Amino acid sequence: MSKIVVIIGAPGAGKGTQARLVSEKYGYPQISTGDILREMALADTPLGNEIRSVQAAGKLVSDEILAQVIRERTLQPDCENGYILDGYPRTISQAHQLEELAAQQGKDVLFVRIYVQEEALMKRLTGRWSCKKCGEIYNIELRPPRRDGFCDRDGEPLWHRDDDNPTSVARRFTAYRASTTPLIEYYRENGSLIQINGDQPVADVFAELSAVIDGASEK
Ligand code: AP5
Repeated sequence: MSKIVVIIGAPGAGKGTQARLVSEKYGYPQISTGDILREMALADTPLGNEIRSVQAAGKLVSDEILAQVIRERTLQPDCENGYILDGYPRTISQAHQLEELAAQQGKDVLFVRIYVQEEALMKRLTGRWSCKKCGEIYNIELRPPRRDGFCDRDGEPLWHRDDDNPTSVARRFTAYRASTTPLIEYYRENGSLIQINGDQPVADVFAELSAVIDGASEK
C-alpha cells in the first residue's frame, strides 16, 4: 500500500531538513505546508494578505485553508505512490481531515514525531538560512555553508525567513504548545505515534527515521 509519511515536531525540530532527505532517498514528494503557504502569501489578494499576516504573527493558518491546500496538492500525480507531510497536521481537526483523506486515497499513514527540547530550538531558528532555489537548509552556527551567505549546492544567495526572529519564534512555540501538543497526545493515545530524538546530528536523526520507514514498509 502506498504511504503518507507525516513528520511532526516543534518549530525548528528538523521537519524540513529530514523531509528533504526522505524525499531524496525514497522518491516521495515533500509537501511542506509552511512553504506552500509562504508561496500563497506572495499574492496581493485577500487570501494572500491574510496568510502573510498570520504567518508573520507566528499563529496558525485556518484549518479550512489547510484542508483545501492539502487536498489540491495531494491530488497531483506525483503523490500517487505516497508523499511526505512536513508541518501538517498541526491540530486535531487537521488530523481528522487527514484520516478522511488517507481513507479516500487508500493510503497508510506513518506518524513520526521528532522531539527536541525547546531551549535548543531558538538558536536553530534565528540562525537558519535557506536556499530559495534548491531548498537546502543551513544554520550559521550549527550547519554553516562553506561560503558565507551562499548555497553549497548551487551558489545562490541564502535568505532568512521573516518569522525567524525571537518574537515570532516565541509565538510559534506558543501556538505549538496550544494546538500541536494535544495532537501529539491524540496520536500517542491511539498508539500510532513513533518518536525520534532530534537532538543529535542530522545524519543520525535520518538513520533512525529511515529505519522507521523501512520497518513500516516490511509490515
Ligand atoms: P513552517 O514553515 O512549517 O514552520 P515551523 O513549523 O515553525 O517549522 P520550521 O520550518 O521553522 O522548522 P523545521 O522543523 O522544518 O526545522 P528545519 O529542518 O528547517 O510553518 C510556518 C508557518 O506557516 C506557521 O507558523 C503557520 O503560520 C503556517 N502553517 C504551516 N503549516 C500549517 C498548518 N498545518 N496549520 C496551520 N498553519 C500552518 O531546521 C531548523 C534549523 O535547525 C535549520 O537551521 C537547520 O539547519 C537546523 N537543524 C535541523 N536539524 C538539526 C539537527 N539535527 N541538529 C542541529 N541543527 C539542525
